[in-house]
Amino acid sequence: MRDPVACSSAQLPTEHFNARFSDENVAFLVPIFIDCADIEAGHRVLDIGCGTGGFTRAIADMASAAVTGVDISDRFIEFARNAPEPQRGAVTWKVGSAESLPVADASFDRALLSLVLHQLANPRLAAFEAFRSLAVAGRAVVRTVASEDVAARVPYRFFPSMSATDTDRMPPLTKIEGWLQDAGFVITERRRIFRNRKLNLADQERTLLLEFDGRYSFIPGQEREDGLRLMRAEAEENAGNWIDPRPESFVIASKQN
Ligand SMILES: C[S@@+](CC[C@H](N)C(=O)[O-])C[C@H]1O[C@@H](n2cnc3c(N)ncnc32)[C@H](O)[C@@H]1O
Repeated sequence: MRDPVACSSAQLPTEHFNARFSDENVAFLVPIFIDCADIEAGHRVLDIGCGTGGFTRAIADMASAAVTGVDISDRFIEFARNAPEPQRGAVTWKVGSAESLPVADASFDRALLSLVLHQLANPRLAAFEAFRSLAVAGRAVVRTVASEDVAARVPYRFFPSMSATDTDRMPPLTKIEGWLQDAGFVITERRRIFRNRKLNLADQERTLLLEFDGRYSFIPGQEREDGLRLMRAEAEENAGNWIDPRPESFVIASKQN
């Protein structure tokens, strides 16, 4: 198994990483976060592994909540601090680790761990830290790509060693639920949501080329060429309507006492 920390998106160039908070992603995902976490106006929300903070700001704005974004990368948090403030709610930024959160006990109503646990050396400890950060009746939401859903996604289905690595890297849902339960949470719901995302070949290629130079540099040259050829052929075959179902999972857990 590859070192999860070595594959962390904290290694990515800031602007490239920030593209994940496109208007389309924010519009699709933020209402799901608010609904899964049942975020209400005035709630204190902790966005753990917030990156450059696109979801943090949008949750504050959409729900009029007080959202704190924490990330291990001081570069990402610096970027977040320089972005425009939300019109409603409020945001606070902290550099820190999910495994040792820089927050007081019971100081939040909701905690979000979106695509973070798989990047940690000790994800079970992060579940304990999320539990500690929440007040009683608090709720945590984990967003993830289940390991069994990796292989069918674009671009994974064209690059066998990328697919094998990330299938191995993404924890099965039962494992995530086990960490949360060990920490004291009660699992209340699991949702699987299909993104059915319309893809653009140029965007996919641009991202891949950057990642071939970075965290997927282990992919052999021949596999890259073969994968790119297959991906281009599929995109051309479905020109203008290249859709990836891209299922994602949301685990909802509550702190009942
Ligand atoms: C895949 S990104 C997810 C960003 C955002 N939450 C989202 O859903 O798009 C993972 C984030 O976790 C951060 N991260 C990695 N290890 C961390 C750690 N030990 N503590 C806090 N954040 C960490 C990375 O810097 C990155 O911003």
